[in-house]
Amino acid sequence: MNALLDDCPHRHARLSLGKVVNGNVQCPYHGFEFDGSGRTVKVPALGRSSEIPKYLRALSIPVYETHGIIWLWYGNGDPSKPPRFFDDLDGLSAYSEYSEVWSVSLPRAVENQLDVFHLPFVHYNTIGRGGKTLVHGPLVKVLDDYSFIIYPFNEVDRGQRPLRGNEIDASRLRNYLWFIYPNVWENYISRNMRIIAFFAPIDSSSTKIYIRLYMRVTSVKVIDRAITKLLMPFNTYVLHQDRRVVLTQSNDIMYDKLIHADYPIALYRRMYLKDKELNKLLGNAPQKLHE
Ligand code: FES
Ligand SMILES: [Fe+2]
Repeated sequence: MNALLDDCPHRHARLSLGKVVNGNVQCPYHGFEFDGSGRTVKVPALGRSSEIPKYLRALSIPVYETHGIIWLWYGNGDPSKPPRFFDDLDGLSAYSEYSEVWSVSLPRAVENQLDVFHLPFVHYNTIGRGGKTLVHGPLVKVLDDYSFIIYPFNEVDRGQRPLRGNEIDASRLRNYLWFIYPNVWENYISRNMRIIAFFAPIDSSSTKIYIRLYMRVTSVKVIDRAITKLLMPFNTYVLHQDRRVVLTQSNDIMYDKLIHADYPIALYRRMYLKDKELNKLLGNAPQKLHE
């Protein structure tokens, strides 16, 4: 299966406003038609008997459907493996979902969820209660080139110095955040509760966020699902606490001045800035990324 980028190669109208004609996508502007591989099969203005220029190609991307998600492959060639997902769900299968679009770049949306020290400020009256402003580590376990786990460990500031990652006893820490590049995130809250987020970039300055809340309370799937639905408004409230602040950040990440607690964000950026295909797709200028 393939998807077409929502961008006509002719003069860049959105193909999603068009329609499907004989199995092809017809652009709403001048009626050019594209097949699933991106090939232009019709240019009405040229008439039936003219040849269609080869340079008129829409961008076609392979698509996979697993774990209830449609995944797009934006790399070169075909992927060697199916999309990666979390293998620590321990049979958790009841979940509910929520999604919304933020007018921020992909990194701003992702980094907000890799940030272990905004909680006492942004979420001071919800998940960040208790004033734990001092950040140890953060302890990060790098799994491979595309994935890492963060073990948040924050405390009330009593004058103690922040521990370095290698001074932290990881066995004390139950909660973790697992990130799989480019856009999948898990918050391991407990054996019976997880939050998973998918970040889907729409363009260089807007990102759709999908949140999934998994829970096992009774082990009866329909009941557990109903419980996750009841709790979703709280998660949405927390998400909107983030949104309020993240929407005020500029999209340009290159002028940020990071500190030790931003380490997971720096790790993510290294992956993102190296990802030429994604940056090209999002229309980011390469020279700007490496200033
Ligand atoms: S912009 Fe799509 S056919 Fe002209
Ligand atoms: Fe947050």
